[in-house]
Amino acid sequence: MVGLGDPDDAAVWWLDEQRALVATMDFFTPVVDDPYNYGAIAAANSLSDVYAMGGQPFLALNIAALPPNLPSELIAEILRGGAETLRQAGVVLAGGHTVQDKEPKFGFVVLGFVHPDQMLTKARAQPGDVLVLSKPLGTGTITTALKNGLADPADVAEAVDWMKRLNRFAGELAVQFGALSGTDITGFSLLGHGLEMAKASGVGFRIFYNQIPFLSGAQRYASEWIFPGGTSDNRLFYGTQVSFAPEIDEASQMLLFDAQTSGGLLLAVPEARAAELLEAGKRLDQPLWPIGQVIAGQGIAVSP
Ligand code: CO
Ligand code: CO
Repeated sequence: MVGLGDPDDAAVWWLDEQRALVATMDFFTPVVDDPYNYGAIAAANSLSDVYAMGGQPFLALNIAALPPNLPSELIAEILRGGAETLRQAGVVLAGGHTVQDKEPKFGFVVLGFVHPDQMLTKARAQPGDVLVLSKPLGTGTITTALKNGLADPADVAEAVDWMKRLNRFAGELAVQFGALSGTDITGFSLLGHGLEMAKASGVGFRIFYNQIPFLSGAQRYASEWIFPGGTSDNRLFYGTQVSFAPEIDEASQMLLFDAQTSGGLLLAVPEARAAELLEAGKRLDQPLWPIGQVIAGQGIAVSP
């Protein structure tokens, strides 16, 4: 149902009227110093692509490339962080594969199921839909500040909590309230992943800057121009398809191009169901921010 033809967050294979198989893999180099958190973030990030399809993950396999001189206690912590996050998601860890490499890399293959009629793709956003985001932005600027020894530990702790957080309830609510389109925000930033959705759906997005949630400290590091390389790449690659109102300064614009790790889901929710979805989110303690709307046209317009 979904493969190389129209790239999405995961591949989807039709099984029968009730079920389709969702398959994805993801891995990356460490974004934080703590090995347990690294493993946990890698797992939350890998699971996220199944949630972004409206699916329920059930089985995962480790993928690890680790330096031969890495102490075994650190390796155990990375694996434990991953395994405990999978357990929290109700997902079975069933195996994996490890090789040696100079720089650590860690992640997962994840399999899930989705009802074929309830699958969220990037291509089904409709004009009028409300755009809803499930995590604040700023993990790129904060983890880069951390790498440069410039981050406040409280800001890092907050970012780590969000990166470890599952997109499980955001995905379930999206399906429950009739959303048909969504993706997760990762390396290509809010605007890059948003543009993929808008383009695939043949629509435009209007985003309201003042409604976007940011991690504490993100705006401060941004004003000091502390960004990962991916953020500049994103602006170069996607910048021509985005228009900003003149009130939005350069650093704020860059934050919307900020490369995220294990970011939130971006959902296009039918307007008639959006208020109910936001209410249900509150009851489940699942933060959800309405940040814009789907419009006829193309590209993304950002206003205050
Ligand atoms: Co994705
Ligand atoms: Co992915």
